[in-house]
Amino acid sequence: MAYSEKVIDHYTNPRNVGTLNKDSKNVGTGLVGAPECGDVMRLQIEVDDNNVITDAKFKTFGCGSAIASSSLATEWLKGKSIDEALTIDNMDIVEELALPPVKIHCSVLAEDAIKSAINDYRVKNGLEALELPKSHH
Ligand code: FES
Repeated sequence: MAYSEKVIDHYTNPRNVGTLNKDSKNVGTGLVGAPECGDVMRLQIEVDDNNVITDAKFKTFGCGSAIASSSLATEWLKGKSIDEALTIDNMDIVEELALPPVKIHCSVLAEDAIKSAINDYRVKNGLEALELPKSHH
């Protein structure tokens, strides 16, 4: 299967690989796995007092598309409010990276990781966890 140039770019030069302090109150951590393939993604956000995401990091043990999806997601997350971040849809990632149909679940993993990180942050800060309907397209 041929990867798009954008996937290859993110795969060979991933943005924001790393770890934030998961014990910090300002950090939300999302850890999700794809049942389809066993790949695992951890995505973390650091949020300031105005609910704006100031930093994002990821570590993905998975295919090239999953690595590219999470790398792209961290780029998109920085500077967004946590409410804006909730609107990131896996199909936006599919479109940006030109993922083929068999790789759509890799982008779903990134969307789920974002939402799970936001919920972790919310719960840590006394907010209710949001119900997150899965948007498997
Ligand atoms: Fe499963 Fe890509 S093949 S995340």
